Amino acid sequence: MTVLAPNMHPATPPTGIAAARARERLPEGELHVWVARVDDPEPGVTMLDRTERARAARFREARTGARWANAHVLTRQVLAHYTGTSPARLVIRAGRRDKPVIRRPRSARWLRFNLSHAGGLAMVVVARRAEVGIDIEAIRPLPDLLAVARRVLDDSVVRALSRVGPEESASRFFHAWVQHEARAKCLGTGLVEASDDARDPVCCFDLDVGPGYAAAVASTRPVDRIRRWHTTV
Ligand SMILES: CC(C)(COP(=O)(O)OP(=O)(O)OC[C@H]1O[C@@H](n2cnc3c(N)ncnc32)[C@H](O)[C@@H]1OP(=O)(O)O)[C@@H](O)C(=O)NCCC(=O)NCCS
Repeated sequence: MTVLAPNMHPATPPTGIAAARARERLPEGELHVWVARVDDPEPGVTMLDRTERARAARFREARTGARWANAHVLTRQVLAHYTGTSPARLVIRAGRRDKPVIRRPRSARWLRFNLSHAGGLAMVVVARRAEVGIDIEAIRPLPDLLAVARRVLDDSVVRALSRVGPEESASRFFHAWVQHEARAKCLGTGLVEASDDARDPVCCFDLDVGPGYAAAVASTRPVDRIRRWHTTV
């Protein structure tokens, strides 16, 4: 499997032939991952629906609200890129087990996606007719790390964590955690029930997003290639 990281900007949704090309560029077996910084203090909220705007406005800290809004603007821009629909016209709703899905236009239902955001970064993964999950976490000290690991992660991961010092264990914990959460978000099984077993039917891959972060992506179908773009919102 290859991981490519070209630079491309989905700022304006393509229409007609351009949208068809974007669709063609996402064949079955590929995951496209879009990464963006979400620090812009003035997000393009006109792209968001009423519920999203209300949620963004509820954050006590303006910066957190702006990051949340930017992450959802990114999601809409990315989905618009593949569907040729304008970002504001996409209807996104909670589907099975609350996992967000595209409801309208109906012709865009082939496109599956998932969003994750942490600190100043957001990531959106899209795929053709495969369920996908993504998770990014900032690596940070966690006082009750082993207790959390015991509740959620596999025994083998917990044993490995208990053998290393605090700094290494934080990094290892978050790398194991993002794999676990990406699988959970992919299948909608919930964090406790999700398996860390590499033999289960979900394919899961680490994504390198730079120092200080751990990230992973998961898919219900075999993955031939992961392509990645760094963009702006
Ligand atoms: C789903 C969940 C695990 C995401 O956790 P997180 O690390 O805080 O957040 P992330 O940034 O990685 O992902 C959040 C995004 O995932 C998506 N999402 C929400 N529910 C989801 C679900 N059930 N499955 C997959 N993706 C989901 C949304 O786009 C969400 O964005 P928003 O919170 O800005 O609206 C968390 O909301 C949770 O613990 N929910 C409790 C219920 C649960 O376990 N659900 C099962 C699915 S894992």
